[in-house]
Amino acid sequence: MQPTTFDFHHREDEIGQLVFLEECKDVPFEVKRVYYIYGVKDGARRGFHAHKSLEQACICIHGSCKVMLDDGKERIDVVLDDPTKGLYVGNAVWREMYDFSEDAVFLVLASEYFDEQDYIRDYDQFLAYLKEKEA
Ligand code: TYD
Repeated sequence: MQPTTFDFHHREDEIGQLVFLEECKDVPFEVKRVYYIYGVKDGARRGFHAHKSLEQACICIHGSCKVMLDDGKERIDVVLDDPTKGLYVGNAVWREMYDFSEDAVFLVLASEYFDEQDYIRDYDQFLAYLKEKEA
């Protein structure tokens, strides 16, 4: 599995840095929801779920962290440490986020409103879901 990453528009001038992105252009979906994670305790790991439909773009806009993606066949680990880059996380992908630096701010753009029914929070259920999907 190769990670799909985005390079966002970046302007640098004497005042500082500016990054921008537009839905359906710089990320491949309409953005219905934005959330962000910060203040993650040292050594903590988050995520541990997949989504049935949701698509997301993850950006570590400050500091750094790692994202583990698992499509049921392969696992990859991606370092996010650049506010101009995003990582696409499609549906039916198990994700875990870890190694957050103390100052990390992890921003997520999501294609749907929050819906707990879209989550698969059990790894064995995730594998069963993939099998069912492939059948
Ligand atoms: P969750 O997605 O499980 O966080 P993580 O996978 O990073 O540990 O969300 C944690 C809690 O917050 C869970 O009870 C659902 C709630 N939540 C919302 O209500 N709306 C949202 O947009 C998100 C992302 C989470």
